Amino acid sequence: MNAAIRAVVRTAINSGLKVLAINGGYEGMIEGDFKGMDAAAVSDIIQRGGTIIKTSRSERFKKKEWRTVAFQQLIKAKVDGVIIIGGNGSLAGAHIFTSEFNIPFIGVPKTIDNDIFGTDYAIGFDTATNTALEAIDKIRDTANSHHRLFFVEVMGRDLGFVALHCGISAGAEAILIPECKTNVSDLIDKLEKGWKRKKSSMIVVVAEGAVEGGVMEIANNVKAKFNHYDIRISILGHLQRGGNPSCFDRLLASRLGNKAVKILIAGKKNMMVGLKNQRITYTTFEKASSGIHKINEHILDLANELSA
Ligand code: F6P
Repeated sequence: MNAAIRAVVRTAINSGLKVLAINGGYEGMIEGDFKGMDAAAVSDIIQRGGTIIKTSRSERFKKKEWRTVAFQQLIKAKVDGVIIIGGNGSLAGAHIFTSEFNIPFIGVPKTIDNDIFGTDYAIGFDTATNTALEAIDKIRDTANSHHRLFFVEVMGRDLGFVALHCGISAGAEAILIPECKTNVSDLIDKLEKGWKRKKSSMIVVVAEGAVEGGVMEIANNVKAKFNHYDIRISILGHLQRGGNPSCFDRLLASRLGNKAVKILIAGKKNMMVGLKNQRITYTTFEKASSGIHKINEHILDLANELSA
């Protein structure tokens, strides 16, 4: 997110604009918590995780009365346009706001879940996936040494991008994602095959939204019928959301942040910039907040083919 903030601030200043940061996302918009930014304000941040201007999950912004307050704050501060950097919640908020009030917004997709329609990649996904992969590689060392079966839960509430990408890359024996319903007996069949091949360890990567009852329940259900391995569970959690961004994410954030400002200046509004097939694309807020970013079926097939 910091790399995107830097790109937005520097591009806008270089284009002769005055830039205000909205501290704390939509909550800051409601509070009128704005801070003037110069080029130096975004020095030394491209390599840092998180966001220097903070963020929030604003319950108040879901209500019209508070959006009206936010609008009044923007008018008071003489804001002509807003760049929103965020995930589905932020883009849905931008969609509602811009259909009610006449201030142009441009969105920049940012979520580790990668579940935004209109872009192949959201900022943060690559870093989070690499962080999860590094953790699973380390878990594999213990799993191998102790002849264990590990269930590793990664983030991904609605879609399984993180699980699928880091699962394939870690050589996971099975990957459970929300897009494909999990059947315990099919999973056990798969694990049985690995056991017959004398695998010294097994790793099942589970997206947090993949199974009812979560990773604990699925691990217990498997344990009740499949006891060839000692079973352990590891929930990676929020460590996936922090840390220094990858080169890919820094470049993506720089490109999208830069383009967002340029199209705002060019008079475009109420759309999100994204990256599709390596090219920058534009998707209206309406489409971005109603569409579903589907996982690539070929990658799903690949996971099944290679894990056997
Ligand atoms: O939306 C991104 C995400 O990382 C989800 O994968 C996860 O469920 C959620 O955020 C965690 O949110 P919080 O930090 O509010 O617990």
